[in-house]
Amino acid sequence: MRRKLAAGNWKMNGTGPALAQLEALAKAHPDPSVDILVCPPATLIDRAARILRDTPIAIGGQDCHAETTGAHTGDISAEMLRDAGATAVILGHSERRADHGETNETVRIKARAALQAGLVTIICVGESLSEREAANTLDIIAGQLSGSIPDLVTGEQLVIAYEPIWAIGTGKVPDTNEIGEVHGFIRTRLERRFGTGVGRSVRLLYGGSVKASNAAEIFAVPDVDGALVGGASLKADDFSPIVEALESA
Ligand code: PGA
Repeated sequence: MRRKLAAGNWKMNGTGPALAQLEALAKAHPDPSVDILVCPPATLIDRAARILRDTPIAIGGQDCHAETTGAHTGDISAEMLRDAGATAVILGHSERRADHGETNETVRIKARAALQAGLVTIICVGESLSEREAANTLDIIAGQLSGSIPDLVTGEQLVIAYEPIWAIGTGKVPDTNEIGEVHGFIRTRLERRFGTGVGRSVRLLYGGSVKASNAAEIFAVPDVDGALVGGASLKADDFSPIVEALESA
């Protein structure tokens, strides 16, 4: 009942020539059986959305402001993302929590704005290495879930990405039991807070060093509904096999 989602997070990578990767991706997946989303830097959203207009590939932002408009130099609202052609946004990525001091509260008010603007809202959670080593992973995740997710959500719009910080861009990946434990925990928490209807329809992505060689194994874990992919989403040749692994999961 949950449509799987392969999401790419380009982070601060890509100028005009990178749009060719989106064209290649669209060409490789004219009729995918999973949702495909790419979140390029904000400067490329409008051009990317135009290029992908008649394709099944969706475009998203990597952050948004909590307000609709106003005196917030350098910021972009959820409405602006939508206007530029985005249909989704990533919020609370660990790099934003670290680089911009985003707290669970910040993420929650941004998420409220994103949901109100009709965007698919991907909220990221994940523990640091020291938190995992201290066996605090589930406590950290529980706090991030209760603090970062607004009260009013729909199962179709909300997506949670579990991204252990120590696995991002490092080539290290938790074993499948560890991923399964956290995803099962997240599912239970969502069901408890929002009821089983909503809780069961929220998609849960795993993120952190997902690549073609480990995707199938990760996608076989219960309650993994897809991936949030950083480095391996930059090139169509790397992202495409991950999409295919999800299609055959
Ligand atoms: P990675 O990044 O795939 O390069 O590890 C994932 C992410 O930060 O979303």
